[in-house]
Amino acid sequence: MIDHPIPVVAVDGPSGVGKGTLGRALASRLGWHFLDSGALYRLTALASIKRDLDLEDSAGIASLAENLAVRFNGSLADQRIWLDDEEVSLTIRSETCGNIASKIAVMPRVRRALLQRQRDFRQPPGLVADGRDMGSVVFPDALVKIFLTASPEACAIRRYNQLKEKGIDVSLADLTREIAERNERDARRLIAPLEPTVDAEVLDTTGLNIEQVRERALLIVSKRLHLN
Ligand code: C5P
Repeated sequence: MIDHPIPVVAVDGPSGVGKGTLGRALASRLGWHFLDSGALYRLTALASIKRDLDLEDSAGIASLAENLAVRFNGSLADQRIWLDDEEVSLTIRSETCGNIASKIAVMPRVRRALLQRQRDFRQPPGLVADGRDMGSVVFPDALVKIFLTASPEACAIRRYNQLKEKGIDVSLADLTREIAERNERDARRLIAPLEPTVDAEVLDTTGLNIEQVRERALLIVSKRLHLN
């Protein structure tokens, strides 16, 4: 593979594991761009709902994904996302969008349609990208690949707290079940399944707080990027 001049740190792992929090912290520390790839799947899900598309219509959904009119702005700590001139930053965080996102994410055409859009985020001086297949498919030449894991209970509680912070009300029992279903679907799909690549550093975050996860991840990144 030809060396790409713009470095990427890939952060992959299941729902609720804390990829977004860690990815943003790393991007902020490095002064790099950040890609929340799940947001693109969630935006495609939301656009499909708005247009009342049949969830079996993979060609229609892929075409929607290819032509999504989205804008990302704001800061790392407060990213704002727009779809067709409507701000949808909170709307796409609902479990409905997350579940539909995971259903359409099994469609090869949808994944292909979103591929270049994700790669376009690779801009100087570097990119931290979070998702399920950042290190395996989208940026296989990433300089650093971190794969986060945590127990299903820890993932559910983290996501629950995250949603509560955003003012989104959910039941912990429902969330635990939905996240388990979603992670199972993501791990079992034939294309770009959720699994660590052989060159990824697997970091089990169960029982660690965000500072501890960040410290360990920073150590991995510093070593690989030869930072002091
Ligand atoms: O990361 P987030 O929970 O926002 O992603 C929503 C869904 O989008 C995931 O459950 C997964 O099915 C899908 N996704 C994916 N590949 C990515 C990012 C997200 O399949 N790189």
